[in-house]
Amino acid sequence: ATQGACPFRGTRIGGALGSEPQLDHWWPNRLKVDLLHQDPPFANPLKDEDYASRFLELDLDAIKADIKEFLTTSVEWWPSDYHNYGPQMVRMAWHSAGTYRIADGRGGAAQGMQRFAPINSWWDNGNTDKSRRLLAPIKMKYGSKISWADLMVLTGNCALEIMNFPTFGFAGGRIDAWEADKATYWGPEGWNGKRPSEAPAQQLEGHPDQMVNRGIRWKGDVKEEYYDLENPLAATNQSLIYVDPEGPNGNGVPMDSARDIRETFSRMAMNDEETVALIAGGHAFGKSHGMTPADQIGSAPEGAPMAAMGFGWHNPRGNGNGADTMTNGIEGSWTPNPTTWDNDYLTNLFKFEWQQTTSPAGATQWTPIDPNAPKTPDAHVPGQMNDLMMMTSDIALKVDPKYREVCEKFLNDFDYFTEAFSKAWYKLVHRDMGPKVRYLGKEVPAEEFLWQDPIPRNDGYSLSDADVATLKDRILATGLSVQELVSTAWASASTFRKSDNRGGANGARLRLEPQRSWEVNNPDRLGRVLDVLEGVKADFGRVSMADLIVLAGCAGVEKAARDAGVEVTVPFVGGRMDTTQELTDVEQVNWLQPVVDGFRNYINESVGYHVAPEHLFLDKAHLLGLTAPEWTAITGGLKVLAGNYDGASAGVFTDRPGVLTNDFFKTLCSMDYTWEPQGEDEMTFALVTREGGESRYTATRCDLVFGANAQLRQVAEVYAADDGHARLVKDFVKAWHKVMMLDRFDVPAERAKA
Ligand code: HEM
Repeated sequence: ATQGACPFRGTRIGGALGSEPQLDHWWPNRLKVDLLHQDPPFANPLKDEDYASRFLELDLDAIKADIKEFLTTSVEWWPSDYHNYGPQMVRMAWHSAGTYRIADGRGGAAQGMQRFAPINSWWDNGNTDKSRRLLAPIKMKYGSKISWADLMVLTGNCALEIMNFPTFGFAGGRIDAWEADKATYWGPEGWNGKRPSEAPAQQLEGHPDQMVNRGIRWKGDVKEEYYDLENPLAATNQSLIYVDPEGPNGNGVPMDSARDIRETFSRMAMNDEETVALIAGGHAFGKSHGMTPADQIGSAPEGAPMAAMGFGWHNPRGNGNGADTMTNGIEGSWTPNPTTWDNDYLTNLFKFEWQQTTSPAGATQWTPIDPNAPKTPDAHVPGQMNDLMMMTSDIALKVDPKYREVCEKFLNDFDYFTEAFSKAWYKLVHRDMGPKVRYLGKEVPAEEFLWQDPIPRNDGYSLSDADVATLKDRILATGLSVQELVSTAWASASTFRKSDNRGGANGARLRLEPQRSWEVNNPDRLGRVLDVLEGVKADFGRVSMADLIVLAGCAGVEKAARDAGVEVTVPFVGGRMDTTQELTDVEQVNWLQPVVDGFRNYINESVGYHVAPEHLFLDKAHLLGLTAPEWTAITGGLKVLAGNYDGASAGVFTDRPGVLTNDFFKTLCSMDYTWEPQGEDEMTFALVTREGGESRYTATRCDLVFGANAQLRQVAEVYAADDGHARLVKDFVKAWHKVMMLDRFDVPAERAKA
């Protein structure tokens, strides 16, 4: 009854800073522009330190030795299973990385988000609060030389190594976040930090039929042909990393579980072989914990009482730990040797028939039918032997024909399995770090994989100031228009997303499939521009197409500013390299294709998001790491310079396209117009003169939002003001350069700012 109690004992904390209700409750559909300013540097107590340099000071051997020593100890407040914290640390690392999803690149291990809500309080992350706290002494010993994000992954690797598993490599370089992420969409359902099946159903605004807990993120039923998980989600339920171990909605049907596993793991860019390697590999270790019914378990960390000091899931049974531990609800281990790498998981899965049974906590699980099947030692009680356990999601690997094929291959060739798991684990925990140049430390493997979007290493190529000037002149002399120059550079650089550091201008993948053929890039026009630029390159000598494309943008912006009466030099930092089609994973690069790109008034209808375009445009700005003023300046500038992807006129509020004026903002903020929705869906608008009713311009929602939204309008008015033009040119150029440099991890930060 005292859970969460405070001396004031009210039902609300009314009166405190930020007390609810707040804006998002009064206006749930408001455009949350403030999300662009999350996790600001001033919230970071280590902001003055360059993490990469600090990490390189770290003695990796020493910290690994400390971690490994700690793993085989045990502390009284959370005794280790089998005298080995390894398995629980592998799970912590896997759950840290396992939130990643390809559709928007969000989630993943890279910022240590497991430390913050909602992830720290997901049911599936049960007792990872203990795992991180157990590691805290090591974190404190090494301080700012290792981030939590790196430490969690490194500990996962150390754990595997002490259990005789050969890891493939480790890279440091993950930079911690310092506050909860409020931007990522984790799914629509109500949720209380308990088991997904116990989450309260929630009626969502605009979705009156969506009352059930799980079905709301799915179209169709698991048995139906038309069965689809809402994008960009990669887990079947809020508060799970991937799938319910007891099968969809706890239905205990392995074949249904297989279907969920395939859907969710592929959304993390894992194929069938990698998926089986990860699950069969991971469950060679450790155990599941299910000694107490879930409804007796206390609040998750974010809602726990003060005295719990950040711990959640209070377990009233016995000591609440050790032999009494309750985490997921399923009880038991998969193999007789849960702290050693071996092939027993698959051997036993296939050697025995399994029947459903129930754990002490009431969860559905499986046990061998054969009474002679091997037993497994209890994790805490000396001499006690227990039945082996499989989850419905484990049996899934046996019943699904494709998974079964992979399992059989692994069963017959343990070395092959070991290598497959080793590589899949490496990919799992490094996937969202971006290009290999970001990888730090002496355990970075030489090998490079397609999922790292490889770009050949720069062998000393650079451009002198004179080269840059010559190239800009030659580009302008080709007669390519400002529109063509600017839109090509933008198309190249704006593929970047900060969520997983993929995309960007480096590598010049714009020349290659699939980018070359994306509708948003206007393939015909792009093809002509690239041909002309190839000509410039052939005449000049050593220059990469990646640099040339960006230089074309610089030349275009400078000309556009000059034509508006302002002389500017757009900063340029060369040294980009060109990659090849062979080094490009077409399917994975396709995920970088914008869903809504309001900069170019593009909407990808095929994706089927049921969200107003301006919200997805905000999402795009967020992935580019733009602030509200940068987003505004870039949009207003691009509208008059580059126009729309298809040459349409919406949002091009100027009589002088291709000239860097502030006409977009002047029109947007002018009261000389009224804005009349065209069609019932209000996707486009006519700008009609108040006097005379003459239609002057057309606009989309992504254009008008800069005048309609209070926060964006304040910025737009700055650029519309009489002194706004010079400011716009300056801010546009700065933001432009920032976007061109987003992927330049090869350039020191100071030089990149230029
Ligand atoms: C433990 C489910 C995939 C590694 C567990 C537990 C559950 C679970 C319910 C027990 C948690 C507890 O009560 O302590 C699943 C499901 C998966 C999956 C449904 C996907 C279908 C993986 C993967 C890995 C992994 C890919 C690693 C590569 C582990 C480890 C443990 C564990 C090492 C033991 C933790 C301990 O001993 O404390 N898993 N898992 N699992 N899982 Fe998984």
